[in-house]
Amino acid sequence: MPLASLVDMYNKAIAGNYAIPQFNVNNLEFIQAAMEVAEELKSPIILAASTSAIKYAGMNYLMGMVKAGCSEVSVPVAMHLDHGAAPADAKACIDAGFTSVMIDASHEDLDNNIRITKEVVVMAKDKGVCVEAELGRLGGIEDEVVVDEKDAFLTDPAEAERFVKETGLHALAIAVGTSHGAYKFKQTPKLAMDRITEIKKLTNIALVLHGASGVPKELLDLGIKYGAELPGAMGVPDEAYKDAVSRGINKINIDTDLRLAFMSHVRQFLAENPSVFDPRKILKPAKEAIKEQMRSKIRLFGCEGKGA
Ligand code: G3H
Ligand code: 13P
Ligand code: ZN
Repeated sequence: MPLASLVDMYNKAIAGNYAIPQFNVNNLEFIQAAMEVAEELKSPIILAASTSAIKYAGMNYLMGMVKAGCSEVSVPVAMHLDHGAAPADAKACIDAGFTSVMIDASHEDLDNNIRITKEVVVMAKDKGVCVEAELGRLGGIEDEVVVDEKDAFLTDPAEAERFVKETGLHALAIAVGTSHGAYKFKQTPKLAMDRITEIKKLTNIALVLHGASGVPKELLDLGIKYGAELPGAMGVPDEAYKDAVSRGINKINIDTDLRLAFMSHVRQFLAENPSVFDPRKILKPAKEAIKEQMRSKIRLFGCEGKGA
């Protein structure tokens, strides 16, 4: 199958009330893992590369691997730019064949965010490429108080309504208390779920949850057992995914959990097999652990069987 249109995939997800996982990829093993699991569970998936992932892998290598993977599967696979910083990043990805791009001007004021996002929407329109943008800043919340008042604030529903109307984008990333990486909460995880319902009601488009990794305890424990240092790491609880999806989240971004799966299993394998130096043997259990994370997310997001 060629890369699929994320616009079509979103229409189905909105109608069917489920979320498509975004799996961030950097190299062969992550791409193979995603393709194999998507085919096994008959799930649509979104592969994503940040600009630093593109720099690491190289655009031609990356797209070569993704296209090769697509030819092996029968389910819809979209290729997405994660957190594009400027319209030029989006253009480079559209030219390379991505079917979706994110322009992240969330650090700008509302008017500038709208202006920059619109520029990308116009650029993507003729090619049928999906556009995602972000409103609000990711960051933790505790007892209704914004933790870091300077940097972290939740998406304002009225602003979201204006943003969607004026930009004409396809998907909106919203801030409801999640954050990127392995340290999302200091105490009990708390998300502003009501805001998802409110924003969906006002915008009626695909909503995206960034910073959504679960930071599974078993991966932390395994990594720590073999030398990792991750004190206080904490992620989104499994129950929160179902709630978020039922309120209108249609794409959920996962990077950290795949990295944790990779890291902990490479550590374990090397510690337990000190004489092995074949990279294929070293990476095999890591790839299996990444696949297990992907399976679990596809099931939690209600996406299994939706790509058949
Ligand atoms: O949201 C950011 C993603 O986790 C990608 O991170 O820039 O290290 O590839 P990266
Ligand atoms: P995590 O760091 O929680 O996996 O979030 C990834 C993400 O939002 C990529 O855009
Ligand atoms: Zn993100």
